[in-house]
Parts: sequence; structure tokens; C-alpha cells
Amino acid sequence: MNTRYRLLLLTFFISSFSLKTRAQTDVANAFKFAVSQTGVMLTEIDKAKTKATGTLVIPRALDKAGNMVLIPPNDWCSGFFPGELWYLYEYTKDPQWLKQAQKFTAYIEPEKYSTGTHDLGFEVYCSFGNGYRLTQDPHYKDVIIQAARSLSKRFNPVVGAIKSWDNLKVGKYPVIIDNMMNLELLFEASRLSGDSSFYKIAVTHANTTLKNHFRPDNSSYHVVNYDPETGKVINKITNQGYGNETAWARGQAWGLYGYTMCYRETRDRKYLQQARKIADFILNDPNLPTDLVPYWDYNAPDKANQTRDVSAAAVTAAALYELSTYGRRNKVYRTMANQIMRNLAAYQAKPGESKGFLLLHSTGNKPANGEIDVPIIYADYYYLEALTRKLRLENYQAVVKQ
Ligand code: GLY
Repeated sequence: MNTRYRLLLLTFFISSFSLKTRAQTDVANAFKFAVSQTGVMLTEIDKAKTKATGTLVIPRALDKAGNMVLIPPNDWCSGFFPGELWYLYEYTKDPQWLKQAQKFTAYIEPEKYSTGTHDLGFEVYCSFGNGYRLTQDPHYKDVIIQAARSLSKRFNPVVGAIKSWDNLKVGKYPVIIDNMMNLELLFEASRLSGDSSFYKIAVTHANTTLKNHFRPDNSSYHVVNYDPETGKVINKITNQGYGNETAWARGQAWGLYGYTMCYRETRDRKYLQQARKIADFILNDPNLPTDLVPYWDYNAPDKANQTRDVSAAAVTAAALYELSTYGRRNKVYRTMANQIMRNLAAYQAKPGESKGFLLLHSTGNKPANGEIDVPIIYADYYYLEALTRKLRLENYQAVVKQ
């Protein structure tokens, strides 16, 4: 081996070592921040609980005055805080986080019988799903399977989809793009129980959504209303977006994450293609700001007066890390995810402030004037999930541990 070649080889090893260390240091710093903020949050939860009544036990957001909003187990956001605790336990291996994760996860257990919501995936998979992944607790497995039974009751085979809301004002049988996220619970329950009906429901729902929710530019409608007797599409509208024909930012992120996950679970290439199309819509839309943190709706006019949605950026980063592990074009998706994560540092709360939330500037439901430009728990959850995925990629591990 000549000297020049040896030198080149040495430079390559040194640079790849230092690059790896830098990425790992970024993750370590972000987790250090998350650990200390979540300590603050636990104290704040105790303070808020003394003022609250009944079953308000889990943090969801800050209100306009900066007070912590606590929610009961049947709120669609109840699984995110327990899920964050599981990610902290996974990273630190500290039994104190395990204890906290178990405690907050247990609050949600009554939801396993709920048939009044499509959000059981968010509620039960983020909490019990992560708990089962990390502990193999057989009780958690039973909860996941029971929740899947309850969720399956909302499936109508004529429509070929799970009903999202029971609100008749929106429509008789509304299905929202967000509902793609709840399919992960069904795939897991099918694996754990051997009951293929959960798998079939998930795949049918994903196919129906693929057929009806997307526009030619690969952005998605928020709500598609069906006739439950015939399965025909009645209309395509929005509930949380700027307009029926606009691209609500978090909806695009839910779709990206949902179809990436469906490809993982089925290896059906049409889901991978759809995930790539959505990623390409998000990343190439001229309305996406240069820091890759979208406005709450891509097409809302008068951008100077619009708020961002940090939660959409966090969900997108988590999804892009996974998408980057499938097939071609993986480098671009990983680079973009890294870029989002780097840019989200500018959206972090000041240490010790914001009642322990991690990220500021999410937008929950602008048309309803709800949770605008505030910290929201699902932004923090998907941020920690994205960090965990980033670290797994840096360590050459499968991005999603099953
Ligand atoms: N699934 C409700 C939301 O994303 O706001």
C-alpha cells in the first residue's frame, strides 16, 4: 500500500469517526435537555393536579396564559407523555424513568375498552406499545390486543375504513388522514395475537385512504366523508386546515408517517411509493420555509401573520428517518431529517421554563382558535422518537426496533 493511499484511508477513518461523534453528541445534548425539562414537567404536573379535579392527570399543552393543560385518559393526546417517558427510559436505562413511564401508562388502561374514538392508536400504542417493546410485559400485550378489538368495532367493510369521528355536523362517516396513525396498533395486535382480522382492517383502511384522500400533487385532504350504506364519497373537506383545498401541515406529516409505517408492516411497494410522493410534496413545496418548519397550513395566505407548526416538523423528521432506510433515495431523506432536527434546536424552550415542555410554537387547531403557537405534547413525543431513530441510524441499528 503506498503512502498516499494509507494517508487517504487514515483521513477517511478519522473523519467518519468525528462525524459519528458529532451526531451522537447532538443526540446526547438533546436528551440531556429532555431529561432535565421532563423533571421540571413532573413537578409542574403535581402542582397542576392539586388544582385540577377528577381524572385530569396527563399534560397536553400550555394555554395562552402559560398554564399547564391537563387531560383525562380519554383525550386523544393521553398516550404522548407516557410515550416520552418510555423514550427517556430507553435512552437512559434509568429505573426512575421506568417507574414514571409505568405509572403514567397505567392511567390510560381504561381506554382499551373505548369504542367512541379512532384515536386508540395514539393513546394506547404510544404508551403501552412502547412499554411492551421495552419490557415485554405480558399485561401490556393484553391491553394492546383489547384496544385493537375496540378500535376494530369502528370499521365498516362497506366503506373500507375506520370511522374517525361521531360528530354528525362534520358528516355521517368522516375519515381523516390522521387516522393512518392508528393502524400501527392494529398491525402490532395482529402480530401479538395471531388474529389476521386486525391486519386486514389496517390494510383495507390504508387502501381506501390511498384511493380517496390524495390530490394530484400528492397533498392530502383532511376529511373524506363517506356514505356508510354505499361506501360512496360524499365530500372532501377540512376541519383543521385553512380551506377544503389546502394542505394542512400536520395532515401531510401524518400521511407520510402512516404510509412509511404501512410499508414497514406489509412490504407492499405501493405504500412506499405513496410515502415518497408525500415526502416529495412536503420537501419541495415552495411554501415550506428554509428552516423546514412549516406554517400550520402550506396554503394559508399572508404568511407573515401565520404561525408555524413545530409538531408537523417533528412528525416529519421521525417519518423521514424511517423512510430513509427503505430502498433508493435514502440519503436525501436522512439528510433532510437531520436538517429538521438541527433547526428544531431554535424552537426549544429555555431550560427550566415552559413548564418543562421541550419545543415551542406548535399549532393545534387554528380554525377553532385552539392551541395556537404554543408547546404541545405530541411535538415533544415525535421529537424524542426522531432523536431515538437518529441515534439508532448512527449506531447502524434498525431504525424501528420491533
Ligand atoms: N389528530 C388530531 C390532530 O392532529 O390535531
